[in-house]
Amino acid sequence: MNATITDKEFEQFKSLIYEQVGITLDAPKKTLLTQRLGKRLRDLELSSYQAYYDRVTGKGGGEELTQLVDLISTNKTDFFREPVHFDFLREEVLPHVEATRTLRIWSSASSSGEEPYTIAMTLNDAIRDRSQWDIKILASDISTRILAKAASGVYDDERVMQLPQDVVRRHFLRGKGEQAGKLKVRKHLSELIAFRRVNLMAPAFPIKTPLDVIFCRNVMIYFDRPTQETLVGKFYRYLRPGGYLFIGHSESLQWVEHQFDYIKPTIYQKPFD
Ligand SMILES: C[S@@+](CC[C@H](N)C(=O)[O-])C[C@H]1O[C@@H](n2cnc3c(N)ncnc32)[C@H](O)[C@@H]1O
Repeated sequence: MNATITDKEFEQFKSLIYEQVGITLDAPKKTLLTQRLGKRLRDLELSSYQAYYDRVTGKGGGEELTQLVDLISTNKTDFFREPVHFDFLREEVLPHVEATRTLRIWSSASSSGEEPYTIAMTLNDAIRDRSQWDIKILASDISTRILAKAASGVYDDERVMQLPQDVVRRHFLRGKGEQAGKLKVRKHLSELIAFRRVNLMAPAFPIKTPLDVIFCRNVMIYFDRPTQETLVGKFYRYLRPGGYLFIGHSESLQWVEHQFDYIKPTIYQKPFD
């Protein structure tokens, strides 16, 4: 059966998604929502979007809400995407933490893991005596499905093969047998990273130590200005003075009220006290 979504149903999902995930669905997204949810309706043998909405918002609907988020979120990412941030990390951030040899970094919308693993590769290759350093990378996302993929550290050959050969050799293991055609991130990278589900809409985050850098790239673009403002305010609180916020190349804090110093496009710094 092929249910069609009514305007009322679309508005209901729109409000629910905005409240729970912060993502603003405008009218052109109606087709997308219908396509992605349509399959879920069929899998669950539900005859209308209203029935699905009731399931998601009803008692015990939390699990299904996670599925819904998985269906609507865009997970596009890449290794070394927007390399300016990794260069900045190596050239500007690292020299300033040499004294303490401690680094706390949060990849706050980590998708399938390419971003936190790229952070780990950058640090690993830039630091000589890594055993003397205390490095922790928190990688989080709202989607449990994509987080599980990230935590597995397994990628198809063609994604990894775009990297220089020496990088692949240093940081990946080639799959054999059933895993042929796949590569797995080596332990010296994965042991730096903790994967957790974090919803950026939560009033507080599970972070105790002030952070040196927060990556929040290519997710704020889906949030409206008040949501961005609240989020950027929360990030400010979790950074140490002098810590950095990196955002995506098509994002800007120009119209958002905030207390950060602008360093260069997509890079902001919390002022020193
Ligand atoms: C396009 S990916 C960005 C990946 C990576 N940061 C990059 O720039 O390559 C956006 C990610 O944001 C996540 N996301 C969307 N809404 C979120 C929320 N409210 N809290 C946490 N993550 C969210 C999605 O699940 C998705 O994996």
